[in-house]
Amino acid sequence: MPHRVRIVEVGPRDGLQNEAATVPTAAKIELIDRLSATGLETIEATSFVSPKWVPQLADAAEVYAGIHRRPGVRYPVLVPNLQGYERARAAGADEVAVFTAASEAFNRRNTNAGIDESLERFAPVLERAAADGVRVRGYVSTVLGCPYQGEVPLADVVRVARALHAMGCYEISLGDTIGVGTPGKARTMLLAVAADVPMPALAVHFHDTYGQALANVLACLEEGVAVVDAAVAGTGGCPYARGASGNLATEDLVYMLHGLGVETGVDLGMLADTGTWLSGILGRGSGSRVGRALASR
Ligand code: HMG
Ligand code: MG
Repeated sequence: MPHRVRIVEVGPRDGLQNEAATVPTAAKIELIDRLSATGLETIEATSFVSPKWVPQLADAAEVYAGIHRRPGVRYPVLVPNLQGYERARAAGADEVAVFTAASEAFNRRNTNAGIDESLERFAPVLERAAADGVRVRGYVSTVLGCPYQGEVPLADVVRVARALHAMGCYEISLGDTIGVGTPGKARTMLLAVAADVPMPALAVHFHDTYGQALANVLACLEEGVAVVDAAVAGTGGCPYARGASGNLATEDLVYMLHGLGVETGVDLGMLADTGTWLSGILGRGSGSRVGRALASR
């Protein structure tokens, strides 16, 4: 079990990319600024994907220009290709994340490209990023199941994670996009990847569709992973993953970690208030059980 976990807050990106209603730009900016004050070290702020594919985040440049960047906090953004990288850099981003999948079928639906084709698209991004001194994170989606293909062979997860790492991604986030995994499978998957990519370069990203996300995280922490993605108020989902629902709620993650004596640097009260505030903006109850419990005290 690590002594400290770095949380990658993905609410402003993964959380808001799947909302039916478009969240006003000013609210997105306020969300990031509120999260910045909680002690979170990494906040994935938005994504520079095609606005035709994800209209909810079409205001990425305005959001990025509007946030107050707190010293010591990193604000990476998602980019699917060199065009996205250029837009992100023009907006002032100095850390980006590329994304592909272990399932060919999902990757085609999500990015209109096969896995190998998407890796080819990333090559110039990584080249430019290296020259610019920009850190690149890599996501592998559908690591524990695919809405189109079903089972995803472990060897495919390992191959794609290894390829992203070999290309220069400093960290590989392993995504259970549709939240179908259970702790034993999560552990086995993590260990298979860790045989090829060093554990300190791995992160886990669980969606909570079947209520397994926190248990999956615990299993992976026991194997030594120390970077965990989560979204405030349990927001999130991928518009191109049928049946995907919210991410693991950051409030629930922080509550569990602090209960285990694991440091996060995050003020749970401030985080929960932010989740309650965001749920008000979205017009529905929080997806975080901890957030709901704290709000009702
Ligand atoms: P495409 O249509 O094949 O792209 O989409 P294209 O290169 O053929 O270009 C077509 C048009 O898109 C052109 O415009 C381009 O300029 C434009 P037109 O000439 O028609 O006017 N375009 C762009 N515009 C702005 N920014 C860009 C960009 N790129 C092209 N970056 C593409 C391919 C990859 C762009 C598209 O499929 C796409 O944007 N997909 C993103 C889907 C997405 O964001 N999904 C959610 C994020 S992944 C996720 O949630 C999973 C994760 O959380 C982990 C997990 O849970 O597993 C990370
Ligand atoms: Mg996700």
